[in-house]
Amino acid sequence: MVRPPAPGLPYLRHDRAAELSLEGGDVVLAEGRVVGFEADASADLQVDATGCAVLPGFVDCHTHLPFAGWRAEEYERKVTGVPYEEIARAGGGIASSARALAEADDAAVLAQAAGLAAEMLQHGTTAFEGKTGYGLSYAGEARAARLGRELATRVTQPMRMTGLFAHAVPPGTTADAWMEEAERLARACDVDALDIFVESVAFTNDHLARMGALARETGRPLRAHVEQFAAHRSVPVALEWDARSVDHLSCLHPDDVEPLAAAECGAVLLPGAELLGGEHTAPARDLADAGAIGVLATDLNPGTSPIASLPVIVGLAVRRYGWSVREALLAATLNAAWVLGWSRELGSLEPGKRADVLLLDGPAEHVPYRFGHNPVAAVFAGGELVHVRPDQAWRLA
Ligand code: NIG
Ligand code: FE
Repeated sequence: MVRPPAPGLPYLRHDRAAELSLEGGDVVLAEGRVVGFEADASADLQVDATGCAVLPGFVDCHTHLPFAGWRAEEYERKVTGVPYEEIARAGGGIASSARALAEADDAAVLAQAAGLAAEMLQHGTTAFEGKTGYGLSYAGEARAARLGRELATRVTQPMRMTGLFAHAVPPGTTADAWMEEAERLARACDVDALDIFVESVAFTNDHLARMGALARETGRPLRAHVEQFAAHRSVPVALEWDARSVDHLSCLHPDDVEPLAAAECGAVLLPGAELLGGEHTAPARDLADAGAIGVLATDLNPGTSPIASLPVIVGLAVRRYGWSVREALLAATLNAAWVLGWSRELGSLEPGKRADVLLLDGPAEHVPYRFGHNPVAAVFAGGELVHVRPDQAWRLA
């Protein structure tokens, strides 16, 4: 059973990940909560978890749900060597997902996203985040924010919604001009956090500072897509504006490792996008050793990371980053919950927290090792048994 070293920790820095306990035990759930760790023979439902790891549910703190359609053709062109600029000139990239979203009606968008949320649940994700960003117009972004809230009412998991209003510069406008619209959207839309994509093809560090000021003024956490394709030294700017997280970091400048690790800011790493997008590898070992709040997420989106499974992401992180199993599991549970402002409520097995509990079909070390295998045997979400794999049903007799 994976448990934190002490109760009430909002997060655990990665230089302390070895303190996560991984020992045999029992857990008792009642009325939707974890209530204790002493076996209770009178419980209505007994689960035989012999040989199985018991984990808190995974928290996916960075996805781009809801989106419409996929971009498989573009992926094939990308891996066979067609440069990104050429794909973009031919109408691909974010613009292509924006067209797909505009052409899909609400019901179709929600059906695709709810289907993905169900797939995520079967892979152990019991809470997640989504973003706007494929609207590419004022009306399109406002609609994406509304659809995100609508999605939250249709899925089993608690869901946070982030306004990624500054994701791409819509055709016919400039980044500066679009920031005016992004600001209007941030003021008008019901979202939990604000996000921005800083890149040569998107927005600048000045725009990031402006988004930071807007986040502070409107009382929402700031998140930022930074250092994905090149180093822009956006992390010091994000830290100045008290960002809750900086995400991607594949091209993080070496001088920014220590300040980020010392800050109260999540380092959200997205190894799925790194692998499938052919990106650089984030300096994850250095960040962990320096004591960063390390976090993992899928980045589930139709462009760089069509991956819905956090067990796959854990497997990638262990291999690519040289992270231990404990480091990877911590990053996909408690620390991810903190990024979403939810670590008092969920993210670890502690009395009083939501009973989001996973039963795996083997030991925790198998999650990264049996790469590509879905280890999730059963899922309890808010104390309810919401998924059980047929071959494991005997454990719940
Ligand atoms: O997180 N970096 C920007 N946004 C997405 C990809 C967007 C897309 O290609 O659809 C990301 O990787
Ligand atoms: Fe992203």
